[in-house]
Amino acid sequence: MLIEAKGINKTYKEADYILHVLRDVDLTIEAGQVVSIIGPSGAGKSTLLHILGGLDVPSGGKAYFNGQDIYALNDQQRSSLRNTEMGFVFQSYHLLPELTALENVILPAMVKNNSRKTSAIELEGVKLLEQMGLAQRVSHRPSQLSGGEQQRVAIARSLMNKPKVVFCDEPTGNLDSQSGAMVIDVLLNLNKTNGQTVVIVTHDQAIAKRTQRIISIKDGVLQ
Ligand SMILES: Nc1ncnc2c1ncn2[C@@H]1O[C@H](COP(=O)(O)OP(=O)(O)OP(=O)(O)O)[C@@H](O)[C@H]1O
Ligand SMILES: [Mg+2]
Repeated sequence: MLIEAKGINKTYKEADYILHVLRDVDLTIEAGQVVSIIGPSGAGKSTLLHILGGLDVPSGGKAYFNGQDIYALNDQQRSSLRNTEMGFVFQSYHLLPELTALENVILPAMVKNNSRKTSAIELEGVKLLEQMGLAQRVSHRPSQLSGGEQQRVAIARSLMNKPKVVFCDEPTGNLDSQSGAMVIDVLLNLNKTNGQTVVIVTHDQAIAKRTQRIISIKDGVLQ
């Protein structure tokens, strides 16, 4: 089991009530699966993804990665786990505008390597961009790339440290259907060629249908 959630709850305390965003969520995802998480806006999809990915602390319950209780780690250990074992892809790409495509892609390896850039790291970054169909865009900055291209740079970056899982939150949310389909093709191909585990949050039934397993969530409850 790569990912396991047990009795996850997430609440927010408002002035006069408690907002219950996730309720007793139990979930397991095996290594090598491609899973989609679907549900209406506000259902708790992003919150769940963030908790599974070490980005948001649950109010109750436990989240495990490879058997490790993620929130038993201190901040530094958890950052390191995220950097080395997990990749993240977001709806709005989150690329750094002042860096080139290649510099964005190799950033996680630089962080892991204490900011030392080696030719091996650069070669790996170029290879990933080539795999994403971006061989001719290595030195472009994000503003010089289309949305679909920026998202493929973000996917390349998420893969830089060879993570065990790639978490994607509405990766096609800002893309037209053709660029979106290409991004999903890229993610599904990763699974086909190297057995990469992929978790995709999406509103889009057509995308969900292309994954091996669909997890549906409504009002914070798994259906
Ligand atoms: N920091 C916060 N404080 C209070 N409420 C929050 C906070 N973050 C999220 N919520 C609430 O939690 C609920 C679930 O949010 P979440 O972002 O997980 O939804 P989602 O399923 O990803 O929706 P969408 O499809 O619109 O992205 C929402 O109702 C939201 O208002
Ligand atoms: Mg969301």
